[in-house]
Amino acid sequence: MVATLRNNGNPEPPIPEVVPRHVAIIMDGNGRWAKARGLPRTEGHRQGTENLRNILKACVEFGIEILTIYAFSTENWKRPRAEVRVLMSILEMVIDRELKELHESGVQIRHIGELEGIAPVLQRKIQYACDYTKDNDKLILNVAFNYGGRDEIIRAVQQIVADGIPSTEIDEDLISSYMYTSPLPDPDLVIRTSGEVRSSNFLVWQSTYSEYYFTPVYWPDFGKEELRKALLEYNRRTRRFGQTDEQINDNS
Ligand code: FPP
Repeated sequence: MVATLRNNGNPEPPIPEVVPRHVAIIMDGNGRWAKARGLPRTEGHRQGTENLRNILKACVEFGIEILTIYAFSTENWKRPRAEVRVLMSILEMVIDRELKELHESGVQIRHIGELEGIAPVLQRKIQYACDYTKDNDKLILNVAFNYGGRDEIIRAVQQIVADGIPSTEIDEDLISSYMYTSPLPDPDLVIRTSGEVRSSNFLVWQSTYSEYYFTPVYWPDFGKEELRKALLEYNRRTRRFGQTDEQINDNS
C-alpha cells in the first residue's frame, strides 16, 4: 500500500490516501509531560483529556470510522489511590461536561472493559452515555476503561463455556464475537505515544494483524499533525496478513 497524496494545491498538508477504518491509541506520557514542565501529574492528565478533543475532531476530518482509546487499564488500579481517583473523576467529568457536545458531533460512545469494580455512580454514567449516543454514526469511540486484553479473553472463554458451545464450533469468528469490541472490525492501526514500545495488555486478541506506530511524542502533544504523520506512515506499510508480497500484488 503506497500513498499517492490527494488534495494537490491545498495549503493543508497531505491527507493520507488510505485511511484506516479503525485506529486504537495507547495515550501514554501524561505524567512525563507534566514532570518535564514541573507540573503535577494531574495536570498532564488534564492536558491529555484536552488533547482528546483535538484527536476526536481530527479523526472525523480524516474519515476514521472507529477510535479506541486506552483510558484506564485493569493494571492502573495499582497506581496511588489519589491518582486512581483523578483518572476516575476525569471520565466522570468528560461525561458530565462533554456528553452533549459529543452527541451533537455524532460520536457514538461505547465502553469496553468491565463495569464491575467501578463506582456505581460512574457505572451508571457510562451506561447512560453509551445509551444516549448509541444511534450516532459519525465516529464510534470505544473507551477502554477498566480494560485488560487478557481479562477480556478469559471472560470470553468463560462465557463460551457457560453458553455450552461445543468445542467443534469454536473458531476465530466465534471468539471475536465474544469480545467487547464485537461486532466492530479489528483495529488497522495501533498508536502508542511517549516512546514506550509495548502493547501493555491492549486489544490482545484484536491487534494480531494491526500495524503499530510508536512515537516519542507525549500524549498531550499528540495533535492532529502527529496523527497525520501516523496515517502517512500507515500508508507506507504493506499489510500481508501472512501472505507474500507477490500474493498481495496479484490480489490487487
Ligand atoms: C498515561 O499517562 C495515560 C493514562 C493512564 C490515561 C489517562 C488518559 C487521559 C487523561 C485521556 C482522557 C481520558 C478519558 C477517561 C476519556 P501516564 O500517566 O502513564 O504517563 P507516564 O507514563 O508519563 O507516567
